[in-house]
Amino acid sequence: MLSETARAEGQTLINPMNELLKKIAEKRVQAGVIGMGYVGLPLAVEIANAGIQVVGIDLDGSKVERINAGTSYIPDVTSEAVNKHVAAKRLRAVTDFRVIRELDAIIICVPTPLGKTKDPDLSMVVSAVDRIAENQRPGQLIVLESTTYPGTTEELMLPKLEEKGLKAGRDFFLAFSPERVDPGNPSFHIFNTPKVIGGVTPLCLEVAAKLYSNFIQKVVPVSSSQAAEMVKLLENTFRSVNIGLVNEMALMCDRLKVDVWEVIEAAATKPFGFMPFQPGPGLGGHCIPIDPLYLSWKLKTLNYRARFIELASEINADMPHYVVNKVNDALNSFSKSVKNSKVLILGVSYKKDIDDLRESPALDVIQLLKQRGAKVMYHDPYVPEIEFEHTHLRSMPLDQGLAEADCVVIVTNHSNIDYPKVERLAKVVLDTRNAMRGIKSSKVIKL
Ligand SMILES: NC(=O)c1ccc[n+]([C@@H]2O[C@H](COP(=O)([O-])OP(=O)(O)OC[C@H]3O[C@@H](n4cnc5c(N)ncnc54)[C@H](O)[C@@H]3O)[C@@H](O)[C@H]2O)c1
Repeated sequence: MLSETARAEGQTLINPMNELLKKIAEKRVQAGVIGMGYVGLPLAVEIANAGIQVVGIDLDGSKVERINAGTSYIPDVTSEAVNKHVAAKRLRAVTDFRVIRELDAIIICVPTPLGKTKDPDLSMVVSAVDRIAENQRPGQLIVLESTTYPGTTEELMLPKLEEKGLKAGRDFFLAFSPERVDPGNPSFHIFNTPKVIGGVTPLCLEVAAKLYSNFIQKVVPVSSSQAAEMVKLLENTFRSVNIGLVNEMALMCDRLKVDVWEVIEAAATKPFGFMPFQPGPGLGGHCIPIDPLYLSWKLKTLNYRARFIELASEINADMPHYVVNKVNDALNSFSKSVKNSKVLILGVSYKKDIDDLRESPALDVIQLLKQRGAKVMYHDPYVPEIEFEHTHLRSMPLDQGLAEADCVVIVTNHSNIDYPKVERLAKVVLDTRNAMRGIKSSKVIKL
């Protein structure tokens, strides 16, 4: 049932809306996802799981080919799932944006990185919206899922989509719904993670909520697209600030010669008013190190300094330096210098049990160690090779790395590593993740 506001809003030209709602209700809606990466591919598969036809649109022809061949390149999505939907003609992928003309609902999941000057780089959102505008027709729902600063949907997308005279809330429907997917999380997936949605008008919200209710257990409506954009930034700023706090706790515990992990574990027994966060070698991934800076950038334009965000970013960004100083101390205790020592980095992805290297603190640790003259090697069961800033390394067999290394640094605590073996074969281990928890050994130095 439509709300009264929605009814009033849709009065002038009710047909595109009614037609779209009918298609959604009958699952005849043709959906499209722009950007088939860590967010887009799982989303497209979830839409197909609901029996809705979906087209993935990506500039990357190799991804398109792999989808159409029924294979997945995202660890959280099985090739069986992709293959099943491709074979049933529920899922296909294209590079040609003209397919947008055939679609009823278009969801944008393209990257939103930072530029060289740490300002938001919305060029990929802009390019996706331009392609939509070129191929737009009345009666379409357009949703942005990429993380961005409050105001993007209304200030940047809306004018482009209304340029040819179509009106949001009447001729087409525009909403923002933040993606909250947590890659590698065994319990929470797209279907059972509540979905926050804010429309640029109440009717836009209503149409978007109807679509998402088909493939997501619980939809959480908010009053505007700005509120929905801000929800995501609150969630990720909350994480960044708390990780910054616990990282500073680790630095303070080090000075006090107190085990930070023991302190956190004991504090976490408090059944109320405390939520444990873990320190580590620095922040990684496409979200937590970047998203808060989208918010602080926006606030700068309004003459406001987001102090918590700045401080947390500073502390978190400094952690790789702290790790390298600890490697220095560990080697010193064997009368060795970092220069010419062999250091094995254990785990290079930004968090455990995934293959994603984006913003991984391991890359900073490797770079800093190389600058000090160390011979750096790595082992990661998920990442066969890495290439960045004049560095090209291949993952080496664990046993060989442990035998050769003067010092092992656990940067990512993958679950499938034999940590007792690491302790047995390594000369000294710097454990930045408490992966060796429970293994008592004088060889193990904690963060
Ligand atoms: N990865 C996560 O865990 C995660 C979680 C929540 C939110 N997000 C947000 O979701 C968005 C997407 O992130 P991701 O991790 O899926 O990125 P990704 O890099 O894995 O995938 C993005 C895809 O978009 C394609 N692309 C880029 N520009 C395009 C364009 N103009 N048209 C069509 N395709 C284009 C790329 O080829 C790529 O396949 C970002 O805003 C990110 O902050 C990511």
